[in-house]
Amino acid sequence: MLKQLRKNPKLLPQGTEEILRYETPVQTVARVAIEDVELDGYTIRKGERVVVSLGAANRDPLQFNQAAQFDIKRPIARNLAFGSGIHYCLGSNLAKMVCQIAFSAISQEFCEIKLANDPPKWRNNFIIRSLERLIVVLHK
Ligand code: HEM
Repeated sequence: MLKQLRKNPKLLPQGTEEILRYETPVQTVARVAIEDVELDGYTIRKGERVVVSLGAANRDPLQFNQAAQFDIKRPIARNLAFGSGIHYCLGSNLAKMVCQIAFSAISQEFCEIKLANDPPKWRNNFIIRSLERLIVVLHK
């Protein structure tokens, strides 16, 4: 990915979008139905709680070609990493900007980034998908 970014920095926005789609840092959001809702043959009754898997939606093969593949060149399409509707993430532009600045700086400064021997360890959390630590080796 770093090599591709260095060769073609224009991939930065879609690469960032693809990381957010592929890993979906906020995996689930919850809602309480304020009225009965029919959804795909199911009835959700007023007052019932619903947990929505943004992570699954972002790998929906009906929405994304080869959804299980990470593709830095995937054209930008709507994904649910920042939610949807009135609660859409207020910090989405800031978060994307921070990612793009970080990847741009790393790709310009270093030729290679590799995982260190210590394997990445994911946090055991149903809602937030994040790493406890990520130790990498950077080569100039
Ligand atoms: C990669 C980083 C981030 C991700 C993946 C993310 C994701 C999300 C998601 C999925 C929601 C919707 C929650 C829901 O529907 O219940 C949300 C809401 C929100 N986010 Fe973020 N967020 C990120 C960064 C940020 C940052 C940097 C800020 C502020 C500086 C921020 C502020 C908010 C706020 C205030 C809401 C609530 C909006 C509302 O309920 O009206 N987020 N975020």
